[in-house]
Amino acid sequence: MRCGHFDDAAREYVITNPLTPVKWINYVGALSFGGFVDHTGGSLLCRGDPATNRITRYLALTPASDFKGTTLYLRTRSRTGYALLSPFFVPGLQPLDFFECHIGLGYTRIVSVVAGLQVSATFFVPHKDSRLIMDIRVAKVGGKAVEVDAIPVVEYTHFDALKQLTNADWVPQTMQSRAATGQDGCLVLTQYAFMMRDTRINYMTSSLPASSFETDRKRFLGDNEYGTWSAPRSLLAKELGNGEANRGDNIGALMHHLGRMARGDERRLIVQVAQAESLAAAMPGIRAFRGPARVDESFEELGRFWTSCLDRQQVRTPDTDADRMLNIHNPRQCRVTLTWSRYLSLYQLGYGARGIGFRDSSQDVMGVLPFAHGEARELIRRLLSVQTRDGCAMHQFNPVTMEGSMGDALEREDRPQYYSDDALWIILAVSAYVKETGDSGFLSTPLPFYDKAPSGEPLESASVLEHLHRALGFTRGNVGRHGLPLLGFADWNDTVNLAAGAESIFTACLYGKALRELSALLSRAGDPAGAERYTRLYGEMKALFNEHAWDGAWYVRYFDADGAPLGSRCNEQGQIYINAQTWAVISGFATPERALAALESLHTKLNTRYGIKKSAPGFNGFDPVKGGVTTYPPGAKENCGIFLHTNPWAMIAQTMVGNGDRAWQYYRQINPALSNDQIERFECEPWVYPQNILGDEHPQFGLARNSWLSGTASWVYQAATQYMLGIRPDFDGLLVDPCIPAAWDGFQVTRVFRGSRYLITVKNPRHVCRGIQSVSVDGKPISETVIPAFADGADHSVEAVLG
Ligand code: GLC
Repeated sequence: MRCGHFDDAAREYVITNPLTPVKWINYVGALSFGGFVDHTGGSLLCRGDPATNRITRYLALTPASDFKGTTLYLRTRSRTGYALLSPFFVPGLQPLDFFECHIGLGYTRIVSVVAGLQVSATFFVPHKDSRLIMDIRVAKVGGKAVEVDAIPVVEYTHFDALKQLTNADWVPQTMQSRAATGQDGCLVLTQYAFMMRDTRINYMTSSLPASSFETDRKRFLGDNEYGTWSAPRSLLAKELGNGEANRGDNIGALMHHLGRMARGDERRLIVQVAQAESLAAAMPGIRAFRGPARVDESFEELGRFWTSCLDRQQVRTPDTDADRMLNIHNPRQCRVTLTWSRYLSLYQLGYGARGIGFRDSSQDVMGVLPFAHGEARELIRRLLSVQTRDGCAMHQFNPVTMEGSMGDALEREDRPQYYSDDALWIILAVSAYVKETGDSGFLSTPLPFYDKAPSGEPLESASVLEHLHRALGFTRGNVGRHGLPLLGFADWNDTVNLAAGAESIFTACLYGKALRELSALLSRAGDPAGAERYTRLYGEMKALFNEHAWDGAWYVRYFDADGAPLGSRCNEQGQIYINAQTWAVISGFATPERALAALESLHTKLNTRYGIKKSAPGFNGFDPVKGGVTTYPPGAKENCGIFLHTNPWAMIAQTMVGNGDRAWQYYRQINPALSNDQIERFECEPWVYPQNILGDEHPQFGLARNSWLSGTASWVYQAATQYMLGIRPDFDGLLVDPCIPAAWDGFQVTRVFRGSRYLITVKNPRHVCRGIQSVSVDGKPISETVIPAFADGADHSVEAVLG
């Protein structure tokens, strides 16, 4: 079964059946203003922060058939009365004669036909603007001429999204709406919580004169709300009641009489939903976007923006399913995770519990560097400013107030209140940033630490480089009985929470990788002594690691406070963990023989046809000592599920041991586009990586959940482009070191790097996985595999031959 298809030329996925297994969404705008639109026209909007400044009321937890945030009704008039149509399918749920929902880059377009009317509604937030546009076109394509009305509707939430759900006393007493008519005769419906009346209003307006309006949900639905969203009673009358809500559940609904429409007639209605300091402040923007020319222009600008991003790296391989992801949807998802971290989706509900994750965003940064290094640098700055002076970091922070928190650790006062991996990730991010841009000056940028005086002033600032030194220092200073890093509350694996004193093999490896990166940075930054010191520390940790963590055929994952291993053949459950094997290789800690053995154990014990499981076998029963991981049934999430974020690390590790066939097998088996034909199993959007897929110990093996906001996006993109296709930025240029399936004849990559465009062709005449035989640049052989950074604004053709 499938619910749609890819249209690569239009850079869209086209949903053709509205009855998708779960709601499918698309992101519009950015955190500064935006949110998501679902495939049946519901939208969740916020400005700056979904927890403290939310605009529309989108209740993700209610059934898919419910109205959520926004919709459009159409009405036709006959002798017997009005026929109500729901062109987005929800909330009317009547069958449509045609339905398509085009998931585009930054926009969603629903096209449907019902009762001889074709509706096309494009939802988007103009690039760098702060309004949702619903660009609606209604065309009469069949049947007799009829009178047609169009009624767009939005439902507001209290700005404090959680209060809306927890306080039905204060919230409804504060919600108010007003109607104002501008000089041009167009209505603007404003809405605010009373305390915001003079500083911050939400509004809705349209490009055609509205003959009436409603702002009170009770009056709109009618019959004391025994009227429903699928058939609001107020839409039986010619006009709406012009109610200006003084309290209660506030909506915006505008009645537009489009007039008598005969076959071939078309109308265009542009709706704006936005927020401003005041109506006066909003008016210039409102006027501008009432004009179709401005709307068309900004839609084209959005397209140009995406073209300029994606053009910076395009690939052509023998695997068209990979090309579609690597050229369109994967970088798109990377940008979405950069914006939203793990904050707002259908699974992360944005009520404030999360915010921007330190480790999550540090990894997201690495996925966007080829096309958004400026934004990446800004996010790195914000992340470093929630690092504490001791080198550790706040686990997450609010994007507006920058207030940090230790997240889930706070729920267990008896456990260490820090995550041992958080601060180490930023070293990888900064190093990747410098390799992409050559901007080593960034290392001396002064940035504050998170610790503050009572006045709110930061207690200390230091250079970016000093921040990185402190991160390593924190790990070095917090080791356990084997000399390996202490786990803290958790490492990357959030849900294994062992008593204080436990050690983390993963953090040891991440520390190793970070030491190597910083050592390389220092030797280029003219500090050979510093570089040497880190190389020595690396060697020391590597020795401890190999002394204690080898279990015979794989590496263990943790030592508990008593020194007992977890992730060992002596455990009944949780015998083997993927991250201990992959990171042993990625860090360079594993000896060549052990690397091969560990990866082979991973393959035989953890691989499935839908991806590699995180661990095995699953815990079967709640154990408060182990914590979160045992709250899941076996096969779900961190308890032996296929946690996708970890899979690209296995791809990278395979390229490091030269096995391009296996790396690509791992790539393909989690490519969501390949689940398009099995959507009844997969269920989630087939154009983005989900966070998790149920593993083979679960009865619903292969079911995906938590789509969009996952570190999988960044790491698969890195694994595929930098390690499998092997085009990897380095300090002095662009390294070409592919590791591909032996059957491939070759591939091509176009990559903009430090101001030059490289047209790279890799040939594989001897059908090997790896090993560069020759490289030429602009027709001249070079002896290196690093292509120089010409930084000359010109095109350069590169040919590399494997053999
Ligand atoms: C979620 C979290 C991430 C964590 C992972 C594994 O994806 O966002 O921070 O590393 O789960 O527990």
